Amino acid sequence: MTTNRSFTLISRPNGELSDSDLQRHEQPITAPAEGQIQVRTTCLSIDPTIRIWMSDVPQYMPPIGLGEVVRGLGVGVVEQSGHPDFAVGDRVLGLLGWSTHPTLTPALSGVQALPAGLPLSDAKVLSLLGLTAGPTAYFGLLEVGQPRAGETLVVDAAAGAVGSLVGQIGKIKGCRVVGIAGGPEKCAYVTDTLGFDACIDYKSADVGKGLDEHCPDGIDVCFENVGGPIFDEILLRMNLGGRVSLCGLIAAYNEAGKPVPGPYNFGMILMRRLRVQGFIVLDFIDRMGQATADLVQWAAEGKLKTLEDVRQGFDTLPEALRQLLRGEKHGKLVLEP
Ligand SMILES: NC(=O)c1ccc[n+]([C@@H]2O[C@H](COP(=O)([O-])OP(=O)(O)OC[C@H]3O[C@@H](n4cnc5c(N)ncnc54)[C@H](OP(=O)(O)O)[C@@H]3O)[C@@H](O)[C@H]2O)c1
Repeated sequence: MTTNRSFTLISRPNGELSDSDLQRHEQPITAPAEGQIQVRTTCLSIDPTIRIWMSDVPQYMPPIGLGEVVRGLGVGVVEQSGHPDFAVGDRVLGLLGWSTHPTLTPALSGVQALPAGLPLSDAKVLSLLGLTAGPTAYFGLLEVGQPRAGETLVVDAAAGAVGSLVGQIGKIKGCRVVGIAGGPEKCAYVTDTLGFDACIDYKSADVGKGLDEHCPDGIDVCFENVGGPIFDEILLRMNLGGRVSLCGLIAAYNEAGKPVPGPYNFGMILMRRLRVQGFIVLDFIDRMGQATADLVQWAAEGKLKTLEDVRQGFDTLPEALRQLLRGEKHGKLVLEP
């Protein structure tokens, strides 16, 4: 008999997630009550924010409660439905959690049916249309960063799920785009496959010197995913009236709960009259249709490429999250349970 496997959070990680912070369960599948659906999870998105949710630092959603199933975005297929808007066989996207056969209330879990016949694999749905990938890049760059043709855009974590799309959208909008990524293979992917103008390998090169070389006219827009010393080097080179779209600070996620220093070059916000704006993709939830339409069209036209690193095996979820935060993956990390 098929069972529902799940991971609950039983203690808050101190540093890197440890297996002992989670408990694995195997239980009978719960039949949906009226208004609920039961889904078979086919692909889970491994996102840095899951590590934030596991901590209890002040954040944009309630932290995952101790004893609760780990929150996570995923794609699945409806197996049983007690909800009038969902039929058995519908492909859905939403917060399915780290669970192979969750039973949930769609509105409470942000679960929506995907259009029938959408010509994208589950992994591509997550890398292009999943809230934490395409829409984050789309709104974070276009609405918050407000790039103009001819401007210089710098994005870090440039080979990753969000950064890779940010740079490509920047190119669509006519920017000069410089990425920052870890290692020669990722940098080559960013320039040769994704079409960025340059990419700095932060693991082997001096980021400040690289920015001086590749951004001779300074930086107009920074799409910030990382924080720490990389962000400080970018801040030093921002132009008058520049914009920082603050998307993430991944360098500090495993430090959650401890004070994180910096940025040290904070004074540049004053000297260069910068606009630094944090955003969460949920701020734009009412406009997802617009993002979806543009992302799908650009992908169909060959202007947006995505790369998925697809892992298998439900029990490897904790290790997948650790590897994401270490950068031990290439492209958008997803897992088929
Ligand atoms: N604001 C929002 O609504 C929103 C939504 C989604 C994501 N985000 C944020 O966007 C950022 C990127 O997320 P993602 O899903 O696209 O992840 P990703 O870029 O696919 O993967 C994470 C990457 O972060 C880089 N990284 C980790 N620690 C680093 C460090 N100390 N210094 C430099 N680089 C480091 C690594 O890059 P290399 O492989 O190049 O070493 C790693 O591959 C994260 O900060 C995430 O929290 C924000």
